[in-house]
Amino acid sequence: MTDPAHDSTPGTATDQRTLRERVLSTLTTARDRTTLLTSCVEDPDLTAQHSPLMSPLVWDLAHIGNQEELWLLRAVGGREAMRPEIDSLYDAFEHPRAERPSLPLLPPDEARKYAAEVRGRVIDLLESAAFRDEPGAHGTRLTEAGFAFGMVAQHEQQHDETMLITHQLRRGPQALTAPDPEPAPRFTGPPEVLVPGGPFTMGTSTEPWALDNERPAHVRDVPAFWIDTTPVTNGAYLAFVEDGGYDDPRWWAPDGWAHIRAHGITAPLFWRREGGQWLRRRFGVTEAVPPGEPVLHVSWYEADAYARWAGRRLPTEAEWEKAARHDPAQGRSTRYPWGDTDPGPEHANLGQRHLRPAPAGSYPAGESPLGVRQLIGDVWEWTASDFLPYPGFAAFPYKEYSEVFFGPEYKVLRGGSFAVDPVACRGTFRNWDYPVRRQIFSGFRTARPARAEDA
Ligand code: AVJ
Ligand code: FE
Repeated sequence: MTDPAHDSTPGTATDQRTLRERVLSTLTTARDRTTLLTSCVEDPDLTAQHSPLMSPLVWDLAHIGNQEELWLLRAVGGREAMRPEIDSLYDAFEHPRAERPSLPLLPPDEARKYAAEVRGRVIDLLESAAFRDEPGAHGTRLTEAGFAFGMVAQHEQQHDETMLITHQLRRGPQALTAPDPEPAPRFTGPPEVLVPGGPFTMGTSTEPWALDNERPAHVRDVPAFWIDTTPVTNGAYLAFVEDGGYDDPRWWAPDGWAHIRAHGITAPLFWRREGGQWLRRRFGVTEAVPPGEPVLHVSWYEADAYARWAGRRLPTEAEWEKAARHDPAQGRSTRYPWGDTDPGPEHANLGQRHLRPAPAGSYPAGESPLGVRQLIGDVWEWTASDFLPYPGFAAFPYKEYSEVFFGPEYKVLRGGSFAVDPVACRGTFRNWDYPVRRQIFSGFRTARPARAEDA
C-alpha cells in the first residue's frame, strides 16, 4: 500500500487521487467525442461502409469498447469476458477493414450499450485500482502511472480520428460543424530555419503514457539542416500542380509515378478543378481551396515529389523530432516545441476543435525555440523515414500495436493533425501509413541539408 506520509514518492494517496481524476477526465473526453461522431448521422450511415479503406462506424464503436474491456476489465481488473463470442469480430487482425461490413456486427444500439456497460465497469474499477503496486498479468508496468488507462484513452481517440476520416469520405450532406480557426495574416517570417548539427535525445523513457514505439530515449547525431518554418500550403502546392508536376516523372519516386498514372491522380484527394477554380470537398461542403492553409490529403509520394520539384526533400524522422524537441539553450529535448507543458488552445490546433488546419504561420505561442511553427497539430507531417524500432525497442503491452508494422512498407508521420486529441500527441508520438495513403489528415514540410557556410 502507499504511504501518505511520503509526499515525494509517486505513489502517495494525493497523487493517486489526482491520477484517477486525470484518467477519468481523459476517458470522458474521448467518449464524448465518440458519442458525437456516432450520433450525428442516422443508423444506416453507421452500418454502411463509406470507403473500402475504412470500417463501418459501428465497427469502430464496438471495437473501442472491446479493447477497453480487454485491457482494463480483463488484463488490469482480472474480470471474465463479458461477451467472449464477439471478441473475434472486433479483432483488427482477424478481419481486414474491407470485410468488416459483412460480419454479424452488433447493431448500433447494441454497440452503444456494450461500450457504455464496459465504461461503467471501468469507472468502478478505477475507484479501486492502485496504479503501482498490484502486479497483474503484465506486471506492474501496465498500471504504473495509469499506463493502461492512458493507452485505452489514446486508442479511443485514435479511432475517433479514424471515424472522422470516415466522415470526410462519406458522401452526403454536412453532419459535423465546428468554428473555423482564427484567420491569420499571411506569414511573413523567414521561410526556413537552420537547425544546428550535433546530438540530441530522440524518443522517451520517462513520458508515462508514451507508447512502446516512442521508447527508449536514445542519442542521435543529426547534421545541420534547414527546415520549413510552416507546413507547405495549398498555394505553394498549387504551383507544383500548375507547373505540370503530376505529368513529369522526374519528380516522382518510380513506385509513386506508377501509382499516380494507374489511378489517374492529378491533385490532392478531394480536390477538383471547375471553370479555372480549384475546389475541394470538406465534410460535406464544397469550398474554394484556401491558399494559406497547409495542404491536406496528400500521399507520401505526392509530398516526396513536391519536395524534389522544389529542390528540397522531406525531413527524416530524426530531423523532424530534433526540430520539434531540441532546445539549444537548455541543451535537452522538451516534450513539445514550446516546452514541457501540456498542449493548450494557444499552442496548437488539436482535438477536433476545428474541422480544418489553421493558416500557415498560426500559433506563435506554439513555436519551437528555433522558431519552427505548427509542428504539433494542423496536419500530420510525412517524413522521409520508414517505420522502424528504436535501438532497445521492446513491444509493450502487445506486438500488434507497433512491432508487426515495422519495416520499409510504412512511412512515418509526425506531429498530429487537427483531428488528434492532446492525449495522443507528443513530440515523440509516431504515426505510420502506406506511402500511397491520403484519406488521412496528412500534409508535410520540406527540408534541405545545410552547407558548410551556413553554420
Ligand atoms: C497508429 C493510427 C496507425 O489506426 O492503425 C488503432 C492506431 N492501433 N488501433 C491504426 C491503432 C490499434 C493505428 N495507427
Ligand atoms: Fe484499434
